[in-house]
Amino acid sequence: AELADRVPLIWLNLAECTGCSESLLRASTPDVSTLIFNYISLEYQEVLMAAAGMQAEENLEHAMETYQGRYLLAVEGAVPTANNGAFLTIGPHATTGVDLIKKAADGAAAIIAVGTCSSFGGVQAAAPNPTGAKGIHEVLDKPVINLGGCPPSEVNITGTLMYYIMFGKLPALDMFNRPKWAYGARVHDNCERRGHFDAGEFVEVFGDHGAKEGYCLYKVGCRGPYTYNNCPTERFNAHTSWPVLAGHGCIGCSEPNFWDEMADFERP
Ligand code: SF4
Ligand code: SF4
Ligand code: F3S
Repeated sequence: AELADRVPLIWLNLAECTGCSESLLRASTPDVSTLIFNYISLEYQEVLMAAAGMQAEENLEHAMETYQGRYLLAVEGAVPTANNGAFLTIGPHATTGVDLIKKAADGAAAIIAVGTCSSFGGVQAAAPNPTGAKGIHEVLDKPVINLGGCPPSEVNITGTLMYYIMFGKLPALDMFNRPKWAYGARVHDNCERRGHFDAGEFVEVFGDHGAKEGYCLYKVGCRGPYTYNNCPTERFNAHTSWPVLAGHGCIGCSEPNFWDEMADFERP
């Protein structure tokens, strides 16, 4: 497709681990090269772009000016707000993450928070949250689509981008601004171990007989009954697997505050 036909995308990385970019790279329907050659014009993406240093800065400035009001803005990572945002500075002018996303959001046609960090704060926001990490919607005055998940699956990222590209509007959203097509059902609703839950067959400790038989992981901390995401049906890595299939319960990674309230790794 000609450049003029493709939707410009600016992807910013704030306080994050790059897992969401890694997830995007595993897209298969369409794959990431089809996405960037046919549907989007990837103007700025720190993990994928060839440019570095001043040239990268110029590319970003150029894209924000040239495609003012037309570009999609994707943000990966929470925004640190404590000490006037000083916990995250980027580039030669030491621009804070807060200032950067406010500026980029100004000219964006739509804003997508990719992952639980940019949606709700994520692990950076775990108590006592010394950097004041927040979801980007808390510092922006425009609507933000939240793709919860640490990371969200590549299907949920590309599906949301493609929805906007194909229909020119945003998908229907749930109470946390997550697309309903992806986050409309609980993990528990479609889990392949649900039959064992219903039959009262549970893994009691990891490595026991039930674990070998693929029993339900509820008693070893699975939060699937309280978590909205399509992991059991779409899976990850080109539909290869997902946490429960791999033998570990869901830790609620697509939910606000999962890091303090749901994840079993912080319980004694
Ligand atoms: Fe990494 Fe998870 Fe944050 Fe994505 S949401 S950047 S995978 S910590
Ligand atoms: Fe529900 Fe988790 Fe058991 Fe699956 S493993 S049935 S999501 S409690
Ligand atoms: Fe996250 Fe639970 Fe899916 S931990 S990846 S929402 S199964």
